[in-house]
Amino acid sequence: MVRYQNIVILTGAGVSAESGVRTFRDNDGLWEEHRVEDVATPEAFARDPNLVQRFYNLRRAQLGTVEPNPAHRAIARLQAEHDGMVTIVTQNVDDLHERGGAREVIHMHGELKQVRCVHCGMVHAWQGDCTQGTECPSCGAKPALRPNIVWFGEMPFHMDLIYSRLRACDLFISVGTSGNVYPAAGFVAEVRRLEVAHTIEVNLEPSAGVSYFEECRHGPAGTLMPGLVDELIGKDD
Ligand code: OAD
Repeated sequence: MVRYQNIVILTGAGVSAESGVRTFRDNDGLWEEHRVEDVATPEAFARDPNLVQRFYNLRRAQLGTVEPNPAHRAIARLQAEHDGMVTIVTQNVDDLHERGGAREVIHMHGELKQVRCVHCGMVHAWQGDCTQGTECPSCGAKPALRPNIVWFGEMPFHMDLIYSRLRACDLFISVGTSGNVYPAAGFVAEVRRLEVAHTIEVNLEPSAGVSYFEECRHGPAGTLMPGLVDELIGKDD
């Protein structure tokens, strides 16, 4: 395989599916029995903060019951063993890339294991439950803390950094994302527009953006990613 210098890997819910984390769009539009607009919007939090806190407390607790799968480990191995730069950008709010061995992960939709104070803006690492009665450890306000998650209608995190890595990459790989949610769904078009990088989709089925990719590998990420990583680091030569 061609040797690449700067690789950007975008991951979505499909990369964690084999770990037992439910995807968003494979369950009749429901996310863990809830409509997205009832739990993942600023309006939902304003209307019923206790429901939203409970929902994310459950998701955070669920992280303790799941383990990284071969796709997470393969991506971490690429980051560790590849000669050039490997940027992992994830839409996932779980910590499975990190627990699979990845060292730098850009969480564009936030992280379950963080909360943010709506008064002082401080972000805190968080393990257990968070409620409307929990004080901000920095400023003492309450209610003050919300999940540090990007809800629908909010701006994703780290976009300048992500676009600078996209502009510099010569290989873009999308893994386990349906290509329905922007701006991540638009990354492949941006990379194609620049005409400097090869593009590969790895997904269970063709995504909404499949026609933008020059190369597609369809099947479970846990099966396909170890082989792709072997090719990229030259282990299949
Ligand atoms: P989706 O649920 O939209 O898509 C998951 C994709 O993974 C689908 O195309 C599945 O076919 C595929 N898939 C499922 N199992 C797989 C496997 N074992 N191997 C490979 N692919 C598999 O999830 P995302 O695209 O990540 O945003 O969704 C994007 C965003 O929409 C999420 O980050 C979330 C959501 O609403 C926010 O919460 C802001």
